[in-house]
Amino acid sequence: MLNHLLLYCRQGFEKEAAAEIANLADQVGVYGYVKTSEGSAHVCYVTHDADGALQLLRQLDFHQLMFVRQWFAAAPLLDDLPEQNRIGPLLELVEEIVPGKLADFSVEYVDTNEGKALSGFCRKITVPLRQALKKKNLIKASGKYRLHLLFLSGRQAWMGISTMENSSPWTMGIPRLKVPRDAPSRATLKLEEAWHFFIPEEEWADRLKARTRAVDLGAAPGGWTYQLVARGISVYAVDNGPMAPELMATGMVEHIREDAFLYEPRKPVQWLVSDIADKPARVADLVGRWLSKGWCREAIFNLKLPMKQRFQAVLDCRERIATRMDETGVRYELRFRQLYHDREEVTGHIRWFSD
Ligand SMILES: C[S@@+](CC[C@H](N)C(=O)[O-])C[C@H]1O[C@@H](n2cnc3c(N)ncnc32)[C@H](O)[C@@H]1O
Repeated sequence: MLNHLLLYCRQGFEKEAAAEIANLADQVGVYGYVKTSEGSAHVCYVTHDADGALQLLRQLDFHQLMFVRQWFAAAPLLDDLPEQNRIGPLLELVEEIVPGKLADFSVEYVDTNEGKALSGFCRKITVPLRQALKKKNLIKASGKYRLHLLFLSGRQAWMGISTMENSSPWTMGIPRLKVPRDAPSRATLKLEEAWHFFIPEEEWADRLKARTRAVDLGAAPGGWTYQLVARGISVYAVDNGPMAPELMATGMVEHIREDAFLYEPRKPVQWLVSDIADKPARVADLVGRWLSKGWCREAIFNLKLPMKQRFQAVLDCRERIATRMDETGVRYELRFRQLYHDREEVTGHIRWFSD
């Protein structure tokens, strides 16, 4: 019954999400086909097996997906919901498809203007649905699943589940982060979101440690540097452009007016971050050089994507970095994700494993 895998992505990146899921599903032998339309901000992978979408939730690692914000395994589209008293038929389907207890549920819409117009409707239906699920004793703190109800209109909805440990903890994969009032740029949220996504919370204290040092390439005006300084990390900010004076006044930032592609650190640092707007392959080579030479232990970097072949461009960059790292024999972890705050770009993360 759960033979549709629903995947949320950034509007305009449906092709990339489709290519990605088709590739991965093929690799694990869960065959099917993709249904999507440009600009819809979601993709549906229909599996030939009746529970193929559930198999994909179990066999694929959500954190390895690059262009997907959130996913769930769904039953066929409900396309004739009544205008009134929707809870009854919805509840029947919940009891049919959920294989265990629910820890949580969310009523969702796609991230398009049309989708957002349904946000009030979704809020309204949330309260009676919660009451109905509680009354049937379907929600428990120790539950394994999250119920998703994605409304395309008042009469059309997808219902399905994800597992709590292999999905985004954020509704629709969208983190609620606020630009700090004194941050020099909105870009600050890209680095904050990257940390949330790539670093488990319990490891922040150790991996984003105060009194360590970082290099920020393409740092101006300082949104990313701001995040590092806020955690007590001293920063070498490399950029010919001006840095925000308040950030310089902290005494924790050294502004280096050099070309980021030529700059070499005097001593290795813990972190490299890079938000340079340049060709993705050039940035990938730069990151590969820093990590393979041991100039930093961990890096977060942004790759601005070309207009065409964006999925392939990220795969090529991954390959370039991996080839360089494999020559060193060091164990490392490398992932990419188009974060909510990313536009025509993806964020990469690489780190050495300390044994
Ligand atoms: C998107 S902005 C960075 C924004 C910054 N992360 C923030 O949060 O405020 C890109 C920056 O890269 C810098 N840049 C581009 N090419 C560079 C290069 N070769 N060397 C150093 N900086 C470069 C630009 O001057 C620009 O300030």
